[in-house]
Amino acid sequence: MVQNTKSLPALKKTITDLKQQFDIEPKTDVENLQNKYLGKRGFINDLMKSLKDVPREMRPVAGQLLNELKENLDHQIKLLGKGLSEKTPNKIDLTLPGLKPNAGHTHPVSQAIEEITHIFEKIGFTRVRYPEVDWDYYVFESLNMPLDHPARDEWETFFIEVPEAEKMGKMVLTTHTSNGQVREMERLNSKPPIRMINIARCYRRQQDATHTQMFHQFEGLVVDKGINIQHLKGTLDHFAQQFYGPGTKSRIRPFHFQFTEPSFEVDFSCHICHGTGKKGRSKCKFCKSGWHEVGGAGMVHPNVLKAGGIDPDEYTGFAFGWGVERTYTLKEGLNIDDIRLIYSGDLKFLEQF
Ligand code: PHE
Repeated sequence: MVQNTKSLPALKKTITDLKQQFDIEPKTDVENLQNKYLGKRGFINDLMKSLKDVPREMRPVAGQLLNELKENLDHQIKLLGKGLSEKTPNKIDLTLPGLKPNAGHTHPVSQAIEEITHIFEKIGFTRVRYPEVDWDYYVFESLNMPLDHPARDEWETFFIEVPEAEKMGKMVLTTHTSNGQVREMERLNSKPPIRMINIARCYRRQQDATHTQMFHQFEGLVVDKGINIQHLKGTLDHFAQQFYGPGTKSRIRPFHFQFTEPSFEVDFSCHICHGTGKKGRSKCKFCKSGWHEVGGAGMVHPNVLKAGGIDPDEYTGFAFGWGVERTYTLKEGLNIDDIRLIYSGDLKFLEQF
């Protein structure tokens, strides 16, 4: 309790005692504290009354001390009211939930690669890796695109400044994962069955909001006796359902690639509007048409099989390939207007995945 405060040192001691008492007070009931310390009959008012006992010349100092104490307590109590304490508590509340350490996670593209690999491995595909700096031969020539073929222009290619090799030609940064097709046939000594999934970085000379110079593709290749378009279609449907969810369908549309015949473009039904293109009475904002175009596919061209030492009269095959980034952002329901964000290293963006 407040002691007799006849002199300034005595008053100072009382103030210190009071502060200590406040510090160890259970701080659960703020209203109670307010009454006890700052109320009409509270400690501060008690002390104010006892100012008259302090020698006159010391009163201004004593008054100032008391005012400081009052403001301090008032401030602390208000903070408590807001659930805050200005002091670092020297008492630790072990019942409080702990702080979660920021553990980070794999990059969204790595997550996608893992998931894609898993889906295809389950149905008997083997994940392979081939050079990302490769010979013209594997990237173009063996894929039915001779040196002077105009179809090469589709792939805006980076050439590496090294001497050309006989038969292999120039060295390039791989523009697509199709460079793995003939390499895989060679790895298996031209002996099907082949069930390959090749996921790798690709490079093209283009950079804008929808293209990055480096991106990822995944490529499927199946070669065996009696392989036909239904096998391709079934595989695409399977992937669509596993990756985007049950009910997602695939659609193939006629197209042209030098290394497949016939060739297709592949679409997946929009998993937001389930392929209807509508959301209520208005258009689905995500796809507008019910479908998303994702990539290319087709039946392996006989010349490609031949380049891999496989007899096209005995074996047939299908291939498909497209971008990992786009496949993944579609899944997340994102129409990212600037794909470069994925490689910006911006944690605010990446932490969302
Ligand atoms: N390589 C093609 C591209 O990059 C896609 C493709 C792969 C097409 C396999 C057909 C077969 O666009």
